[in-house]
Amino acid sequence: MVKLNIVGVGPGSADYVPPIVHRIVLGAHIVIGAQRSLDLFRGNVSGETHVLTAKNIDGLLSYAVESSKKGRSVVILSTGDPGFSGLLKSVLNTKLITSAEINVVPGVSAIQACAARLGLCWDEACLFTFHQGNVSDDRKIELLACLKAGRDVILFPDANFFLPKEIAAYLINSGFDQNMLVFICENLTLDNERIVKSSLKDVLTVDFNALCVMVIKAKREAV
Ligand SMILES: C[S@@+](CC[C@H](N)C(=O)[O-])C[C@H]1O[C@@H](n2cnc3c(N)ncnc32)[C@H](O)[C@@H]1O
Repeated sequence: MVKLNIVGVGPGSADYVPPIVHRIVLGAHIVIGAQRSLDLFRGNVSGETHVLTAKNIDGLLSYAVESSKKGRSVVILSTGDPGFSGLLKSVLNTKLITSAEINVVPGVSAIQACAARLGLCWDEACLFTFHQGNVSDDRKIELLACLKAGRDVILFPDANFFLPKEIAAYLINSGFDQNMLVFICENLTLDNERIVKSSLKDVLTVDFNALCVMVIKAKREAV
């Protein structure tokens, strides 16, 4: 059975694309991904390429599944890791394919790159993605519970509904110390990478790049 490949291409830099992904992409009939993912292989793709956008995602994912079921080798490029706020869920949500028919190749998530930059052990951290409006009261309450339990939080903000400054305001209004230590890691692995060390109160007034990971340290530390 030919499986549909969904591969992680890392958080941004071509240095984080593993050799196995290069092999799969170079041998594929069809390569689908966001422009910034396709750019990582510029000039090396011989199969047909399709730029994935918010507007064409449903049609292109259906095309990917159908083509793979017809025996064509298809690869979908997912930034970071496909299984964390990535394209694996979008493909499974089509209900056109099961996980048994998919070959997932893991990638370096922006979560991992962020933790590495900060020298942070993340095995006990709480991970959240609020990306693309994935913001509900229940998830916000889970966020509070993690911090109250003394666990660090690593999260993807949402660029429209839950920006870093809105997250900071929510935490302060929920009773957390406004001096809590916060890191914002922008454009990880890219030339314009920026790591900002701050506090809840200082984040309140700052706008960050949409490509960012926010870390909230549960333990009280001076900034
Ligand atoms: C659709 S999610 C994809 C996450 C991806 N699957 C992963 O594991 O990193 C996109 C969000 O991931 C975060 N992100 C992805 N790449 C990033 C980078 N290079 N630097 C900082 N944050 C990044 C941002 O919060 C962005 O809005």
